Amino acid sequence: MNEHFQPVDLSKAYRLVNHGPTVLISARHGDVHNVMTAAWCCGLDFEPPKLTVVIDKIAHTRSLIESTGRFMVQIPTADQLALAQALGTRSMHDIPDKLISAGVKLFEVPGHNLPFVEGCSAWLECRLVPEPHIQEAYDLFVGEVSAAWADDRVFTDGRWHFETADPKWRTIHHVAGGHYYAIGEAMSAG
Ligand SMILES: Cc1cc2nc3c(=O)[nH]c(=O)nc-3n(C[C@H](O)[C@H](O)[C@H](O)COP(=O)(O)O)c2cc1C
Repeated sequence: MNEHFQPVDLSKAYRLVNHGPTVLISARHGDVHNVMTAAWCCGLDFEPPKLTVVIDKIAHTRSLIESTGRFMVQIPTADQLALAQALGTRSMHDIPDKLISAGVKLFEVPGHNLPFVEGCSAWLECRLVPEPHIQEAYDLFVGEVSAAWADDRVFTDGRWHFETADPKWRTIHHVAGGHYYAIGEAMSAG
């Protein structure tokens, strides 16, 4: 945690994922923590803020979320492209030291017993809204956002500042097969 790690008002939390970035999902059960990459993350509601993530049954991280009912969604930056790719192409089922080999650094936030990934641009703490049918049938998990933070070098006053921030802060958007786009130029409809 550093001085740029700042809380985001929950009424603005949907804006952190509204533009469809590829995200990192982390969770912890006891001494075991894990992080996986997910492209399928979507806003679902404003107040209280909710989002959905698709988490396949093969993902080790899913078992941690099902055990605890809690997870983090964080937004990696263009600088973390290789990290996102590594966390999404290695499973803790096969590689127990996945987090070390991927080079991910975690930090703690007092009062929030979850693994936070260092270097991201935003973090959303989520409580699982249990929906056993859609979890089983569609691998779709609903999270209610209970707290959110962002790095104030790229998100302040409830909005992203990709136009003025260093390009390394841009969000990444996976298309397929390890091919990504960084967020592009701003356009305004009014
Ligand atoms: C760019 C990218 C996006 C991905 N998106 C998803 C996703 O939305 N849902 C999912 O279940 N897996 C997704 N994956 C695959 C998981 O990240 C992958 O299965 C990972 O190895 C799971 O790690 P774990 O088993 O250690 O939890 C994605 C992988 C990459 C590289």
